[in-house]
Amino acid sequence: MPTLGEPRVGTGVCFAPFQGTVWRSRRRRRIRQTLRGTAREGASERLASSDFRVLEPACVRSARAGPPNDVDPGYGSATMRLAHITDLHVERVPEASDVFNKRLFGVVNLYLLGRSGHFSRAVQDALPGAVLAARPDRVVCTGDLTATATDAEFEAARQLLTGLGDMPFDVIPGNHDVYTAESAGRFSRYFGTTETRRVNAGPVDLCLFDVCAPDWQSRGFATEASVAVLGATLRQSDRPAILCIHYPLRGRRGQPYGPSGRALVGADAVEALVEATPQVVGVLHGHEHHGFRTSVGRRDVPIFNPGASGYAYLPKKHRTAHFNVYDVDATGIRAVERYAWNGEAFAAEPGGAYASGG
Ligand SMILES: [Fe+2]
Ligand SMILES: [Fe+2]
Repeated sequence: MPTLGEPRVGTGVCFAPFQGTVWRSRRRRRIRQTLRGTAREGASERLASSDFRVLEPACVRSARAGPPNDVDPGYGSATMRLAHITDLHVERVPEASDVFNKRLFGVVNLYLLGRSGHFSRAVQDALPGAVLAARPDRVVCTGDLTATATDAEFEAARQLLTGLGDMPFDVIPGNHDVYTAESAGRFSRYFGTTETRRVNAGPVDLCLFDVCAPDWQSRGFATEASVAVLGATLRQSDRPAILCIHYPLRGRRGQPYGPSGRALVGADAVEALVEATPQVVGVLHGHEHHGFRTSVGRRDVPIFNPGASGYAYLPKKHRTAHFNVYDVDATGIRAVERYAWNGEAFAAEPGGAYASGG
């Protein structure tokens, strides 16, 4: 059974009960240290509190540990490593008959205006193996598995994710998975239910909340009725829960997320529910392809977006693929590792999670 073990000093990343303003000021201090030459290359941020853990990257720890998937991530587990992938955007050129709707704009965008070059099949193909190498107990995906929600894309995404083997896997759709009215329901045929639900993931539950519906823009919709269902689902148990949702509740600087054409309608209601529901100990999302972390509310509930996991490697545009791995216990997310595609492979982000800024 994996444990967080004793606090270690290494080249890993550190995350603690999230203090958004604290880490920002700490980062500014670190930048000043770097400018003065006093920061050590690749060193983690050191935190004095014994509540905080400094972890080696999983690739280092795996050398000491047993084979992957040799743990029981189910009921009663004290700790869990949760991998978070999102926004794979698996693309397959659609049939001509599939494009006479909103998808026409998507196809033009993808294949004539070059957006398809934003994503990489080679990176996507490497993702499952890299995730397993990070030794998670469970994987969650926060949507946009496909680009235009065709059967060919869903089938390709499903085939790709068979690379996770028998790893427990939870997934919600993104707006690209319900790209057109015609595609409604297709996600479920490939990946199962989209109902709002709690899943026991060991020390915490995952609460999966689908807010996606076909839309001519890129909006999500947290309706009054769906937020009521989410509230009832969160209150089903006193167990801590991590909310998984495709859309950001907040932007990268903590501001309301926008522009409105690609934001979540009703985000304020979801945020109020998070604030009012102490069971919620974290929020995971995607949709915005450059990752960031923030927090929300007086409880400083941490919010993580790794960034698109299927992104192409375009360093001049500060663009590459990412996924996260969280160490979770019954108090919530205790540490985060962020893996980035470096042009050849996924590797722990140099300098620590989110050191790249996006
Ligand atoms: Fe996306
Ligand atoms: Fe999206």
